[in-house]
Amino acid sequence: MCDISELDSSELGTKEYWDKQYETEIENFRQHGDMGDIWFGEDAVDRIVRWITKNKDIKVDSGIVDIGCGNGYILLNLAQRNFTKLLGIDYSESAVLLAKEIAKKENVPNVKYEVCNVLEDVTKLVNQFDVVHDKGTYDAISLNPENPKDCREKYIKNIWSILKLNGLLIITSCNWTQEELLEQFKEYFKLYEVIPTPQFKFGNKVGNVVTSIVMQNCNL
Ligand SMILES: C[S@@+](CC[C@H](N)C(=O)[O-])C[C@H]1O[C@@H](n2cnc3c(N)ncnc32)[C@H](O)[C@@H]1O
Repeated sequence: MCDISELDSSELGTKEYWDKQYETEIENFRQHGDMGDIWFGEDAVDRIVRWITKNKDIKVDSGIVDIGCGNGYILLNLAQRNFTKLLGIDYSESAVLLAKEIAKKENVPNVKYEVCNVLEDVTKLVNQFDVVHDKGTYDAISLNPENPKDCREKYIKNIWSILKLNGLLIITSCNWTQEELLEQFKEYFKLYEVIPTPQFKFGNKVGNVVTSIVMQNCNL
């Protein structure tokens, strides 16, 4: 067991911040073709895409949703590896616009994008997906200045509900350790696999720069 203390809030936990960020990124993309930030770098994307493509429980026609998809970079990677049922959702209209423009320019028509706040009504997504992917979105939600604990709990329930039975949540975080994530999600999810990430050593302690784990939803 480990105690969960909430993170210090930050503007990264607000929609205003992301709207502004993606408005700038759209301008950059239109003017220079720059896709914008890839959170935790291309290596993180490569590790996750490699893990997905090698996993025997995930097929090319498995339903995969990317929560807080931003520019949609990971979905483009999956589409280029022949995955066919791909959806990206983000609560920022500008993120969705950017992701659609990039997909069009890259000529990747088989990814869908929708504006959706994962903390609000997700009725139409319920029980639809074999895999949920999240890179940095639970982190952002955990930084909410209003009520981070409520937001985190709502997130966990909603993610559980949109997954099919035995569905997988692949989550990458720079704010929470593996132990903290498992503790927070334990009512609804159990550990399926850890995706190894680079480690650092400080004194005699070893840590990870980012945590990438896969959890499976429990039959409640
Ligand atoms: C750190 S960025 C990560 C973007 C993308 N996943 C990546 O790895 O490049 C967090 C993303 O989560 C989105 N987001 C934050 N809270 C959200 C919510 N409640 N519902 C949907 N998207 C949200 C933000 O708009 C932003 O695109």
